[in-house]
Amino acid sequence: MGSSDEMPVVLITGCSKGGIGYALAREFSANGCRVVATSQSQSTMSDLEKDPKFFVQELDVQSEQSVSKAVSEVIDKYGQIDVLVNNAGVQCIGPLAEIPIQAMENTFNTNVFSKDDSSCCTPHASKRKGKIVNIGSISIMAPGPWSGVYTASKAALHALTDTLRLLELRPFGIDVINIVPGAETIQTLSRIYPSKGVFVAKHKTNTCRDICERDGRLSTVMAIMHHMPVFVKDFLLTRSFMKMGAKTEK
Ligand SMILES: NC(=O)c1ccc[n+]([C@@H]2O[C@H](COP(=O)([O-])OP(=O)(O)OC[C@H]3O[C@@H](n4cnc5c(N)ncnc54)[C@H](OP(=O)(O)O)[C@@H]3O)[C@@H](O)[C@H]2O)c1
Repeated sequence: MGSSDEMPVVLITGCSKGGIGYALAREFSANGCRVVATSQSQSTMSDLEKDPKFFVQELDVQSEQSVSKAVSEVIDKYGQIDVLVNNAGVQCIGPLAEIPIQAMENTFNTNVFSKDDSSCCTPHASKRKGKIVNIGSISIMAPGPWSGVYTASKAALHALTDTLRLLELRPFGIDVINIVPGAETIQTLSRIYPSKGVFVAKHKTNTCRDICERDGRLSTVMAIMHHMPVFVKDFLLTRSFMKMGAKTEK
């Protein structure tokens, strides 16, 4: 890489410490990118803030005003955004019949509709080239119980990503990529289940390498399940959830 002006500028949403966005911020920076780390509160990114390699900004993906403000700050500083990583996301756990409509709306507003912020970054891609990276989820291949709203939001995001990639943004030189993680970290879930490891990965995310190595196996299993006849998939999922439930009862 040449001078620092030639290093790609990467804006990542949802970079709170301990999550996937944080690991991505560190990885992009280690690979010679200028990283704009954002999240809804600066306090969750305090150690990135102390590191001069990162430009840390508050950005609430649900607020148009907050998105425009953060994007203007970045354009003032760097003049371009080459890669936008739409990582911010929320979980929504519970039986479909019992989840309040406001919780569903919040999930879709954060995980799907906010991804429209790509439209405000697109014109800032340098030399009419750029990438939008959406963080989807492997869960859409074999949706389980209590995750219907979250999985539906991610399925919608996968569809929007395909639409943008195939035709809508290609003429502008913008690549649109869908990253499909398995079960990781899990900052979000450990807030919901502080003491139990239900559905929660046994590992903490440290680096992107950790994520890739662990996610490979789960993704393969989910992809195989996706192509199974529905009754086989239902049987296997029911069995594994009953087993998990029995373990957490102990
Ligand atoms: N972990 C997994 O197993 C897994 C699997 C598949 C897909 N994913 C996806 O990967 C992404 C990262 O998840 P994670 O596991 O790393 O969870 P996480 O640690 O909870 O990260 C989610 C991030 O999004 C931020 N966020 C939430 N609402 C926001 C808003 N309105 N505006 C801006 N930022 C907001 C959170 O900020 P606060 O800290 O302030 O809440 C946090 O920084 C999500 O899109 C998730 O759906 C995760």
